[in-house]
Amino acid sequence: MNRGRIELAPSVMCADFLHLADTLRVFEAHRIEYLHVDIMDGHYVPNFTLGTRFCRVLGEGTAIPLDIHLMIENVDQYLPEFCARKGSMVSFHPEVVWHPLRTLQAIRAFGCRAGLSIDPAMTLDTVKPLLPETDFLCMMTVNPGYAGQPLVAGGLERIAEFRDFLDRNYPHIRLEVDGNVSWRNIPLMIERGAEILVCGSSSLFDPAHPLAENIVRLREIAAAPPGADSSPEITRRLRSGGARSRCRSGAAAFRAVEE
Ligand code: DX5
Ligand code: ZN
Repeated sequence: MNRGRIELAPSVMCADFLHLADTLRVFEAHRIEYLHVDIMDGHYVPNFTLGTRFCRVLGEGTAIPLDIHLMIENVDQYLPEFCARKGSMVSFHPEVVWHPLRTLQAIRAFGCRAGLSIDPAMTLDTVKPLLPETDFLCMMTVNPGYAGQPLVAGGLERIAEFRDFLDRNYPHIRLEVDGNVSWRNIPLMIERGAEILVCGSSSLFDPAHPLAENIVRLREIAAAPPGADSSPEITRRLRSGGARSRCRSGAAAFRAVEE
């Protein structure tokens, strides 16, 4: 199934907060699709991050759409503030609310896109009844709560399992992946059906290269044919002009570059 362009959602909690305005300008210049904002309350997850005022100020500071990932217990109580900017993507973990269908409907009623954040322990059968009111799934490929964690066991297979079900039953529902979206894992996640990539410490905010260079590399990996090599050496050679034409003719071109 043609799923269209892979979209990027940098995880803002991984950004350098002392230079956030500069970072937003880089994101705007590279047409970043969403800003992924992790909200943690120290209860649903054993960590604290960003809150309602941060979302408001961020929303005033850029036109990039917000992708708000609620890792909090009292979701319904705080929806009016987290849904203040119409058109935002807002996801929550269904196991923490009494009536998840009602919460999804409430997010939509605020004019936002309603999403379910799927903990690694959450099964497909559990979320099936909620899908008629869902616009996107945020598949956690790590245990929620921290950046810089390794992929959970079975994380990649679950992307394929959910994607397969969505393709057959709810093809309009977007599939976002969140957690250890690393240079190595990105091609594997895309091959299994990921459409929106939450990019954190293991790719976009990888300190080994400037932010803008990491974004260009992410775009190239996302646009590459399945099985293409995503190593920095390859993408640097691709960016050096001459090799680019070979790229357009499929996976063989990437392999050809190495010879
Ligand atoms: C974790 C958050 C993620 C995290 C991603 O609970 O939901 O968005 O920031 O960071 P990395 O890419 O380092 O796993
Ligand atoms: Zn997240």
